[in-house]
Amino acid sequence: MSTSTPKRSQTPKWYATAVFYQALVHAFQDSNADGIGDLRGLISRLDYLAWLGIDCLWLPPFYLSPMRDDGYDIADYYAVDPRYGTMADMEELIAAAHARGIRVVTDLALNHTSDQHAWFQASRRDPSGPYGDYYVWGDDPQRYPEIRVIFNDTEESNWAWDPVRQQYYFHRFYSHQPDLNYDCPSVHREVFKIIRFWMRKGIDGFRLDAIPYLYERDGVGGESLPETLHFIEQVRALVDAEFPDALIIAEANQPPAQTMEFFGAGNRVHMVFNFPVMPALFAALATGSAAGVYDVLDKLPELPAGCQWGTFLRNHDELTLEMVPPEVREVMYAAYMPDPRAKANDGIARRLAPLVGGDCRKLELMFSLLFSLPGAPFIYYGDEIGMGEDITLPDRHAVRTPMQWEEGPGAGFSTAAPQWPIVGGTSVAAQRAEEDSLLHFVRGLIAQRKAHPELALAPYEPVETGVDAVFAFQRGSLLCVHNFGAEAVDLGPVELGPFGWAWIPVE
Ligand code: NOJ
Ligand code: CA
Repeated sequence: MSTSTPKRSQTPKWYATAVFYQALVHAFQDSNADGIGDLRGLISRLDYLAWLGIDCLWLPPFYLSPMRDDGYDIADYYAVDPRYGTMADMEELIAAAHARGIRVVTDLALNHTSDQHAWFQASRRDPSGPYGDYYVWGDDPQRYPEIRVIFNDTEESNWAWDPVRQQYYFHRFYSHQPDLNYDCPSVHREVFKIIRFWMRKGIDGFRLDAIPYLYERDGVGGESLPETLHFIEQVRALVDAEFPDALIIAEANQPPAQTMEFFGAGNRVHMVFNFPVMPALFAALATGSAAGVYDVLDKLPELPAGCQWGTFLRNHDELTLEMVPPEVREVMYAAYMPDPRAKANDGIARRLAPLVGGDCRKLELMFSLLFSLPGAPFIYYGDEIGMGEDITLPDRHAVRTPMQWEEGPGAGFSTAAPQWPIVGGTSVAAQRAEEDSLLHFVRGLIAQRKAHPELALAPYEPVETGVDAVFAFQRGSLLCVHNFGAEAVDLGPVELGPFGWAWIPVE
């Protein structure tokens, strides 16, 4: 008996059922004793990902970069940063992952480049030359007053003065990251060329970084504009025509209605990260009330065929609170940010385990949500062992410290002094040796998720329990119940302890 509705595709694409794992190259494994993780190191750890049950690796930018935004400031889209290795290493990584049945998606940061990119250097020097229009230049730094500053810890304006061109350029992020000008047709051609280059090398998909911000328009601002959505349709058309098995996933940190726009009618991206639901989960845990989670999911209607959410708890950025109402933000700061050093822009740069006070019940509850909510789960490296953080580090490096493979000084990550300090306190080796560790729990959930494809594919149907702390929903023949409260609850078919959860077969 099928549990799918007629609207949904009967042949799900690979990403719909995949379990994803985000690993930062510089933080995963150092192979040449310079203290910086690299591609060869990552290759040597693929067996671990296979053991865990990972289907797809998400690799943030590894391109040539001055690394002033951890590689999201790209200086050359066609070169591997020498700190990480060579093009041959990248090709070997793709092949070695594929040999283990693991796909590889990477970031395509196409809203902006580094100011070190040759295009920007040419653009600033020669306004009437071939690159003159590649960036958003102007004489009025007050233009686009509707456009908020995202990196408000460091930037006061979205415009910066260029003494060479004697004009201002527009930047949504750091001032060393000028925005590309999507009104320039050559920029479109450059993006298509980059996509083809990497997909021909075997990359299975792209996370479209900062994708709502491609176009700006007077009076309406610069987020999720129709022009931006139309450009995404063009990217999708290219992918469908030339790389039909590839995935594009949008990083679109937007309110629910705008978030839905990135799916279109199934003709824009295949997946969108579920930014609306993520903070709602943490808020529910802080307040002991599930009401906000039901509300958010109500605003996210069922997806077009072939589309899927990307569900996540944490990633390499701060736990973003840009889109939550001010009162929720205050609740979150009070619950999760006892030390103000953890604040990054409007969010909280902390890791999953410390956020929940290292409470195993809460960790398991959050992982159960990650694996049972509608969407494909994304695990952030190290969260599967409850790794800690270092809030004394700058920018968002608190959550980007080296992976802890073993106990001891280099944590099995490097034999040299690491570029970023190791937090310590737990390790993969220690947890592999212990049957009831978080690592084995997460591995078990991955296996269970695979045994129940309905968790990936069946519609989400909210279930009211009458208990405010409880979030219950049905996915196919499974009833998933989660208790955000510190009190045990008796739901009839099941009793849940404080922060307890269960997946119950029904029918
Ligand atoms: C989004 C990325 O996730 C973040 O890490 C980066 O700083 C910004 N894009 C700007 O590039
Ligand atoms: Ca290295």
